[in-house]
Amino acid sequence: MRSVRDAEVKGKRVLMRVDFNVPTDKDNNIIDDTKIREALPTIEYLLKKGGRLILMSHLGRPKGAPEEKYSLKKVAARLSHLIHRPVAMAPAAIGDEVKCLVDKMHNGDVLLLENVRFYPGEEKNDAEFSKALAELGDLFVNDAFGSAHRAHSSTTGVAYYLPAYAGLLMEKEVKMLRQVLEEGQQPRMAIMGGAKIADKLGLIDNLTDKMDVIAIGGGMANTFLKAQGFEVGRSLAEDDLLEEARRLVKKAEEKGVALLLPEDVVIASEISSQAIIKTVNVGEIPADMMILDIGPRTVERFREAIMEARTIIWNGPLGVYEYEPFSHGTREVARAVASSSALSVIGGGDSAAAVHDLGVEKGITHISTGGGASLEFLEGRELPGVAVCEAKATA
Ligand code: 3PG
Repeated sequence: MRSVRDAEVKGKRVLMRVDFNVPTDKDNNIIDDTKIREALPTIEYLLKKGGRLILMSHLGRPKGAPEEKYSLKKVAARLSHLIHRPVAMAPAAIGDEVKCLVDKMHNGDVLLLENVRFYPGEEKNDAEFSKALAELGDLFVNDAFGSAHRAHSSTTGVAYYLPAYAGLLMEKEVKMLRQVLEEGQQPRMAIMGGAKIADKLGLIDNLTDKMDVIAIGGGMANTFLKAQGFEVGRSLAEDDLLEEARRLVKKAEEKGVALLLPEDVVIASEISSQAIIKTVNVGEIPADMMILDIGPRTVERFREAIMEARTIIWNGPLGVYEYEPFSHGTREVARAVASSSALSVIGGGDSAAAVHDLGVEKGITHISTGGGASLEFLEGRELPGVAVCEAKATA
């Protein structure tokens, strides 16, 4: 990838895509500013080099029109607090008023454009909208790894009109994910969780070509258990994917990959914080119960593999983590990964939240800011937002 470090930025208008899609509460306050903090190295680097920084991002999923709750104003305030300098908030993402603000910028100034998804052109990667954004900058820096799986105007379209460079976060994310997938020391272990196997089929398929051990928990394990003939009661399981699950088990066997499935599970008749739970072997699940977490023997089995692994990638919680009675599997695995000396990378989302909740981030080599993006990367797909930083400069 062309690095932002190779770009001449002094006095230049640097149009930078960041992923400031931060979670907010019902009062529209930012709950977690990790994504903003992770963009700081590139922001600070560009300001130090004398660039004029024009930031663009999406927030939430507005339907191509302005909605106050998706305004980036609160993000501008938080960013300003974090970088100890003013961050001007643009009233829009494109147009004459925005151009005027850009014209008045000095070296080291920061302007945040309003949510790019307030425009229908953004998600369509519309040429006119891309061009209108590109007019605001002299070069394009993409630091939004979390949005790199989207081929939108602000992530890829502008690169048609401006030379594109990868930001420092983008570089770090790609380097770490590539490392676990291709170059990490063996044994390499993948820990897969999450509710649905349908979302992760491509991922497991790709990982059976690259890993030595794959441990599966969470709702998706139920489909594997059912495919092997176990009764799973009322658990979430995807009947139309049983054949696919059998194929993956067979592929893993053929490739010599150790596939670890739950041996014991935590079950209950309802998903609630007050649920009465029971731990049983996978062969003993009553027809009226649901599997909601991995059991202690499975945790132990996963832990042994984690301690032997030299490289670990983890994506997705191993139980219904949001409810305390079903959070133990995920928590114990988070602790084990954090205490291992392996190179460890965590895909975004709930597994990252578990690590943050336990305060064991320091034990993890890299926590990705990308949920969907890291998933697609690990599936072996080309991410459009990464590809534009690799392609020949267009301008
Ligand atoms: C994310 O939070 O995963 C990214 O910001 C992408 O958001 P999106 O799924 O709405 O494109």
